[in-house]
Amino acid sequence: MEIITTVKNMQTLSGKLHKNRYIGFVPTMGFLHRGHLSLVDRARSMSDIVVVSIFVNPKQFGPSEDIKSYPRDFKHDRRLLEETECDILFYPDVEDLYPQGYSTYVEVEGFDTTLCGARRHRHMRGVATVCTKLFNIVRPQLAVFGEKDYQQVIMIKKMVSDMNLNVEIVTSHTVREDDGLAVSSRNIYLNNGERKDAPVLYKALLIGKRMIETGENDTGNVLEAIREVIEEKKSSRIEYIEIVDKESLKILKRIDRPAVIALAVYFGTTRLIDNILTVPGGISKECSGKC
Ligand code: PAF
Repeated sequence: MEIITTVKNMQTLSGKLHKNRYIGFVPTMGFLHRGHLSLVDRARSMSDIVVVSIFVNPKQFGPSEDIKSYPRDFKHDRRLLEETECDILFYPDVEDLYPQGYSTYVEVEGFDTTLCGARRHRHMRGVATVCTKLFNIVRPQLAVFGEKDYQQVIMIKKMVSDMNLNVEIVTSHTVREDDGLAVSSRNIYLNNGERKDAPVLYKALLIGKRMIETGENDTGNVLEAIREVIEEKKSSRIEYIEIVDKESLKILKRIDRPAVIALAVYFGTTRLIDNILTVPGGISKECSGKC
């Protein structure tokens, strides 16, 4: 695996590779886990060259969020990537991506008024900006994103379409622990009690999904049932639970089309997100706990 640490070197290499090789790209913020590795596997199965980036993007952290405490472990990440079939690791500095005087941002309208975008100031703009930059530097024909960050994937797809970017966006299912908890870099912050409580998110999502797929179409009723299940866990504090249109992410008052139940819940001070797709009448597949 080749490690490239400057924008210039990455651009030179991708310029050469792009001509006759299909580049699959997985952007990450490091502290890699099974979820990231499943994205790398997906990229591997669809491309000639796999590039993974590790970059903790300051532009997607709000003023009240502490970027310094974001978990990092480069040696561990490098070892994991060496064990997968990653060809190139792009690991740039903040100053290289955002030099002094940097002032250009990409904003996909509407994404800062719903779900995580409405709660994390300028988060979506930061993600759209860094992904545009990374796509320009790495020049992938394909990029893989996880469905756990559902709003992020929908936004990136919209941005790629609106800006005529020549990259196919592929999504990959959320990887879960045996008890249903979505694998996330943030899970290490949970203490024992919080870790025991956290699988309630998936349990509650499955309950909501089942209600919708067996005929309940009143959003309020489904949200109430989900809320009740989560609130049984003492360490939980709900930030939001919403049921939105699968494509537009518009909030649904009645669930009359394919939808996503999305939520963000704190366990102690750790904020976890999760989501599940559902189709009224029950056409969507039931996840078994490891989807
Ligand atoms: O999902 C993430 O880890 C980040 O939002 C991404 C896509 C790497 C952009 O910084």
